[in-house]
Amino acid sequence: MESLEQKTAIVTGAASGIGRASARALAARGARVVVADLDEAGGQLVAQEIIGAGGMAVAVRCDVTSDDDVASLKTAALEHFGSVDVVMNNAGVITNGRPEDLPQEEWRRIIEVNLFSVVRSIHVFVPLLIEQGHGHLVNTASFAGLFTYTYARLPYSASKAAVVQISEGLRLYLEPLGVGVTVLCPGGVITNIASSMPTFGTSVKSLGPGEQYDLLQPEAVGEMVADAILANTFMVYTDPSVTEALVERATDWNRFIDLQTARNAQ
Ligand SMILES: NC(=O)c1ccc[n+]([C@@H]2O[C@H](COP(=O)([O-])OP(=O)(O)OC[C@H]3O[C@@H](n4cnc5c(N)ncnc54)[C@H](O)[C@@H]3O)[C@@H](O)[C@H]2O)c1
Repeated sequence: MESLEQKTAIVTGAASGIGRASARALAARGARVVVADLDEAGGQLVAQEIIGAGGMAVAVRCDVTSDDDVASLKTAALEHFGSVDVVMNNAGVITNGRPEDLPQEEWRRIIEVNLFSVVRSIHVFVPLLIEQGHGHLVNTASFAGLFTYTYARLPYSASKAAVVQISEGLRLYLEPLGVGVTVLCPGGVITNIASSMPTFGTSVKSLGPGEQYDLLQPEAVGEMVADAILANTFMVYTDPSVTEALVERATDWNRFIDLQTARNAQ
């Protein structure tokens, strides 16, 4: 996409963290933003921030686990701004617990919010984007979808790995049809995600991807998202040095898993 001026961007999970920062970055580059979030008051605040900074935005309450709510995002974008050009599937939740302690309902909750929301979005938006022959999808995955660095949040890493794979497939399908796809894989970003994380069962060691990766501010990630849409970049690692771990794993997966096992066992 050559410019975000006069383009309409829908961002889910936009009341906080990476979604909020992405919504603001897109608006700063001229996009009209649909700020979608379960947290209606938080979404309104972000829309007001954008408008206060001279941009255009509307807040829409949306639960990404609801077919109707996701469908209503398209209606809201078309009614308010007349188009849908960018869709960022970003809303996500995390969990914590040993594999045997995480209830199946918790698996379903994480999969519904993190993974099935993307499926829902595909059904609502992909036909429109194909029909118009332009647009851009951004799916927020995670380093957790690239390699497994902890056993304490299996539903989360499973959902994010699936989002990476789905994004690859969408890219193969949509690029020739004029629609761009980006998968955003953040490492640690300072947001509110941990504050809503439940813990199940006995205490569990919950590691991050590694001390070598800097914790980022969400604003830096928002700029990466806007840049990626403009450059039609498929993969966005918020810390490019993660490729060293991926090369290590691809080169000798057995050694890599031994190292991760030892790190978790320490
Ligand atoms: N923060 C990190 O370190 C990190 C790292 C990798 C990936 N991510 C991913 O980034 C995305 C954004 O997370 P964040 O860190 O900004 O978290 P955050 O908690 O700050 O923001 C997430 C937003 O999603 C909203 N949300 C939650 N459930 C929803 C639902 N059912 N429908 C609509 N909105 C819902 C919340 O209300 C919140 O505003 C998530 O997909 C997360 O998995 C975050």
